[in-house]
Amino acid sequence: MNFSKLFFPVLALAAASCSDRPAVEADYQTVPLPENISLSADAAAFKFNPKTRIVATDSAQTVNAGLFAGYVNTLTGFSPEITDKAPVNNYIRLKSTLGGDNADAYTITVNADSIVVDGATPAATFYGLQTLRKAIPGAGKHDVLYPAGTVTDSPRFAYRGTLFDTSRHYFSPDSVKMFIDMIALHNINRFHWHITDDQGWRLEIKGLPELTEKGSVRTGTIIDKTEEYDSIPYGGFYTQDEVRDIVKYAADRHITVIPEIDLPGHMQAALASYPELGCTGGPYEVWRRWGVSDNVLCAGNDSVYTFLDKVMDEVTELFPSEYIHIGGDECPKKHWEECPKCQAKIKSLGLKSDSHSTAEQKLQSHVMTHVAEYLAKKGRKVIGWDEILEGGVDTSTVIMSWRGTQGGIAAAQAGHDAIMTPNQYMYFDFRQADEGEPIAANWGDALPLEKVYSYEPIPDEFTPEQAAHIIGVQANLWCEYIPNYRQAEYMEMPRIGALAEVQWTKGPKDFDAFMKRIERLTKIYDAEGYNYRKAYFETQAETAE
Ligand code: ACM
Ligand code: ZN
Repeated sequence: MNFSKLFFPVLALAAASCSDRPAVEADYQTVPLPENISLSADAAAFKFNPKTRIVATDSAQTVNAGLFAGYVNTLTGFSPEITDKAPVNNYIRLKSTLGGDNADAYTITVNADSIVVDGATPAATFYGLQTLRKAIPGAGKHDVLYPAGTVTDSPRFAYRGTLFDTSRHYFSPDSVKMFIDMIALHNINRFHWHITDDQGWRLEIKGLPELTEKGSVRTGTIIDKTEEYDSIPYGGFYTQDEVRDIVKYAADRHITVIPEIDLPGHMQAALASYPELGCTGGPYEVWRRWGVSDNVLCAGNDSVYTFLDKVMDEVTELFPSEYIHIGGDECPKKHWEECPKCQAKIKSLGLKSDSHSTAEQKLQSHVMTHVAEYLAKKGRKVIGWDEILEGGVDTSTVIMSWRGTQGGIAAAQAGHDAIMTPNQYMYFDFRQADEGEPIAANWGDALPLEKVYSYEPIPDEFTPEQAAHIIGVQANLWCEYIPNYRQAEYMEMPRIGALAEVQWTKGPKDFDAFMKRIERLTKIYDAEGYNYRKAYFETQAETAE
């Protein structure tokens, strides 16, 4: 028998069945744009197909590999096998041996036999995998041809954040995880969780059960932009088990969850639970409307400090983040000015108004400093909104600049680290265009994609030393007018793509080139079923003459 004659048709058949799948070509011009893409024009591409193995030899890379296998399954219809032994060819190997100063730096090396993704850390390898994912031009039952060459990449900023407000509206743990998946796609590594506010305390604190028993439910909600209220009880909170699960889910995606306990203002839901913590003693309701409440923690009451310590004891148990956000914004001093306890505290601390700060602003600094010092004993650092500069704070406090850029600029000049989230560029609760958009926050101008993209976080006049104090950029999604998760997605996307480039990409900007990349990214949004603003990509209908 002629063996080769028998064998050959089988091989040919196998080859034919493989090549039956169409192959699409990957493009490394992703969002955010990698620093350097160097293609080997004459070399054969790597063909990613159902036989490709993902090689991961330690537990961190195995988690990365599992996530990557899931991502590419959505885009190709196949789920590659994960192995700890490299085959001779047709594999994608994950490593974190790159070294260097930038913890998020990675390289991707592609030839006909293999792709090697090497990161400075497992997080960096994950960003390399996100680039391979986003290089795929959309979903289908296809193989993927990755052009031969190398991608060398590292981000501009170490802190790449997004805020999600789950107080004004409650979003299920699964929705929070979807948010985390969405930010992971954009190489974002900080999830600032605004989890308590006047309209709902949504974090279980076991030693203070009334915070969620009473403070997580309001009796109704203001209707749109009227002065009318519905009378539908509205509530929800995250149990500690749910929080731990979300923190782990984020950590697997190399995202640190930074909880915000906004104090001493934005505390009316806590006051509804424990009225003795307010200057007037209440009664207080979990707030049914939006805005800035005058009802804040009484800074002259010692039990307030004990309350905050108890909250922070559990917060630090739940959240391993080095930084805890302690708010500090929008704390009206109306009640403090009239409250005998607050005034006695001002006197006993010897606080006096001067040209820089009022005595009440200094009293706020006293509260913030108490919490910062308490957290420092637990090895944690704090972030606060830019108002906290008013009463003076230690330079170890990171300043989050939201009322514009001035707070962050002043903070960096004074030696604080600063995170830039100026509302004019980074408030994703603002509408995306003047016309035809859903109801949205109305205290700022429209914030279209191009304006987000145009943001430059470091002023020209900064010295390198001052520039190094700008540690990152963040966009905030305040959810007064965002009652459901689909709407949250719409407000985020595609603006989060522009945010990602501000956070990650170095070098000159080119909005037209960015538009091509972001339009390609929408193919991934489509594959993931995301709700995003498509009007940016609609060509003007031609007027028939
Ligand atoms: C803020 O928008 N109040 C930080
Ligand atoms: Zn008081």
